[in-house]
Amino acid sequence: MFIETHLGGGAVMLRKRPATRNVGIDLDPDVIAMWRRRDDVAVELFHGDAATYLADNPPPSTALVFADPPYWPGSRRRARCYACDYDEADHHRLLAVLAGLDCAVMITGYPNEAYAEALAGWHVTDYPNCTQTGLVAERAWTNYPPPVVLHDYDHVGMDFREREALRRRRRSHVRKLQRAPALERNAIFADLADAFPDELKLAVERFEQ
Ligand SMILES: C[S@@+](CC[C@H](N)C(=O)[O-])C[C@H]1O[C@@H](n2cnc3c(N)ncnc32)[C@H](O)[C@@H]1O
Repeated sequence: MFIETHLGGGAVMLRKRPATRNVGIDLDPDVIAMWRRRDDVAVELFHGDAATYLADNPPPSTALVFADPPYWPGSRRRARCYACDYDEADHHRLLAVLAGLDCAVMITGYPNEAYAEALAGWHVTDYPNCTQTGLVAERAWTNYPPPVVLHDYDHVGMDFREREALRRRRRSHVRKLQRAPALERNAIFADLADAFPDELKLAVERFEQ
């Protein structure tokens, strides 16, 4: 189950592979109306306040909650970005609800002291984001360590160049294995299974789901 608590245009919802259940929440009725018109993605929509929704509907422990709330006051590049903005009290309430959840949680925003304090002990990943005002450093806070096994590797990399370079290397490894005689290829698979037993098991499980 995937829950995007501040859906907006749904940059993540639209790019990730669909989960068994996809839930999108937004306080802005226009955002919800825009999503209701889409027929290409199956998203359960909730019009309302994200913190209230999560408090009333605690997600199962297997869920991933992704929260990209309006920016912390003062850290915005422009005065007002969204029809529904957050004041400091809204942020604190949201963070308290998110920190109390029993599932995986990812929060994104600009680095700021209030979040650093409220999310002390969470894992932090900084990444560049291209916005209308230029390239800015954004931060993802997660209550789980950055995973090394993913169900989709197409988005790995900090920017387009890194993602393309990784794609090229992956294709080149596969082509080399395709060209190798079957016995050599299978010997390499056996060596890989010996060297990375847990990771290989997880990679194989992708086909069994
Ligand atoms: C930073 S934007 C999210 C952008 C989104 N990640 C995207 O890809 O477009 C914040 C969103 O939070 C919504 N919002 C503001 N207050 C909210 C609240 N209390 N509960 C839920 N959504 C809220 C705004 O309407 C806006 O769509």
